[in-house]
Amino acid sequence: MEGAAVTALYPGTFDILTHGHLDIIRRAATLFDRLIVCVAQNEAKQPLFSPDERVQMLRDTVSELPNVEIMAFEGLTTAFAQSVGASVIVRGLRAVSDFEYELMMALMNRQLAPGIETVFLTASSDQIFLSSTLVREVGRLGGDIESFVPRPVAEVLRRKLAAQA
Ligand code: COA
Repeated sequence: MEGAAVTALYPGTFDILTHGHLDIIRRAATLFDRLIVCVAQNEAKQPLFSPDERVQMLRDTVSELPNVEIMAFEGLTTAFAQSVGASVIVRGLRAVSDFEYELMMALMNRQLAPGIETVFLTASSDQIFLSSTLVREVGRLGGDIESFVPRPVAEVLRRKLAAQA
């Protein structure tokens, strides 16, 4: 349908929101009418932050973007996309090493929901090295993480690590 509003979904674990994720969110928000950033459960990961904490981190950080909503979901990304009327899944690509995993997910998702396209945005060059795991590790070992994550997020990580100590 020509001119119909396009809803895109940006799923991720976001087990600490980084400037790399924010870069993808800001750019995707300019490409689509509505962007839903969704905190997913990735069965391969044991997150440091609860889904509610990750949702809150995102809400606090992207509140200035009017067409961006934050949600959490369980189950298949494609099923969630269909339930919110999203026709696009956005994923960020940092380096060649991301490609194989992302390609497999995109092909599986297309198999599950042929009407949903995966769109890849390349990470900005100054953020190619970022990952949530590395940022958590640097924080845990007392390094300065403020150039990798928004300041309120750095504060949330400090509090979480202090509570665990
Ligand atoms: N900048 C910085 N870091 C980035 C990034 C960017 N632009 N893009 C990705 N990353 C990092 C993340 O920080 C994360 O780091 P980590 O591995 O150290 O935690 C890593 O790259 C990938 O994380 P993310 O983008 O959050 O994806 P994921 O691999 O954790 O999650 C899901 C993938 C949630 C989308 C997928 O597991 C899923 O869809 N799950 C739902 C169940 C389902 O449908 N399964 C079938 C899938 S085919």
